[in-house]
Amino acid sequence: MTDRISTGIKKLDSLIGGGFLEGSFILVSGEPGSGKTLLSNSFLAEGLRNDENCIYVTFVEPEEKIVEYGENLGIDYSSHEKDGKFKVLDRPVGEEMHVEELTTEIIDEVNSMNCKRLVIDSLSAWILGFPAGQKKRRLVRTLSRLLDRINCTWIGIVEHTPKINEASFEEYLADSVLYMETKFVGDVLERELKIMKMRGSDHTREAYKYMIDGNGIQIKEPKIRGSKG
Ligand SMILES: Nc1ncnc2c1ncn2[C@@H]1O[C@H](COP(=O)(O)OP(=O)(O)OP(=O)(O)O)[C@@H](O)[C@H]1O
Ligand SMILES: [Mg+2]
Repeated sequence: MTDRISTGIKKLDSLIGGGFLEGSFILVSGEPGSGKTLLSNSFLAEGLRNDENCIYVTFVEPEEKIVEYGENLGIDYSSHEKDGKFKVLDRPVGEEMHVEELTTEIIDEVNSMNCKRLVIDSLSAWILGFPAGQKKRRLVRTLSRLLDRINCTWIGIVEHTPKINEASFEEYLADSVLYMETKFVGDVLERELKIMKMRGSDHTREAYKYMIDGNGIQIKEPKIRGSKG
């Protein structure tokens, strides 16, 4: 049986049977400001607390910001970086050739560091360099299989508005899909977490409201209690 690893958010662990499945590919999708980066940092901070080596690949925010997010969550990324337990790969969105080079770089780093948790922020930006649909799919699939083989659990962030009838190829490839929906309802910004799938595992079928504060992501109880099926 595949082991579970904590997401770094206790309530989320309880909604998915104890945590993410080790070696799986978790796709986190949501609107701007929905907390995708924050959730990913909670996931890595938890890994470092458990002495697991971690890599953060960023195309969006600079390394200094990632270090700051770590600080907010009570983890000193800089000192872990000095100890060789943490690495930020801060890269610009590149051409096709660079995407392939970076894929090799990620795999090499994961192997040499014996990395157990990886975040790509964002998958959308990473594969922008690939014009052809088939190539994109093959690239993500290859990376996902390699990481699974070495038990490296990874989060790929996708920047888009979740539309259940318009799932992207990444959502089909991923083992788990989490939607962090953030939208205005009237004058109020509402946030809702939905677990769309989790291969090989039971999970909640309910939408959970959440809020973000200085301590990170706080998941609340669902408004309407539904059935589990
Ligand atoms: N200390 C805090 N107190 C309250 N809310 C906060 C705090 N820090 C962050 N937030 C909220 O979290 C949001 C940012 O979360 P995050 O950067 O993880 O979003 P994201 O989904 O990665 O966004 P993007 O797609 O733009 O990168 C902010 O817009 C704000 O609403
Ligand atoms: Mg972000």
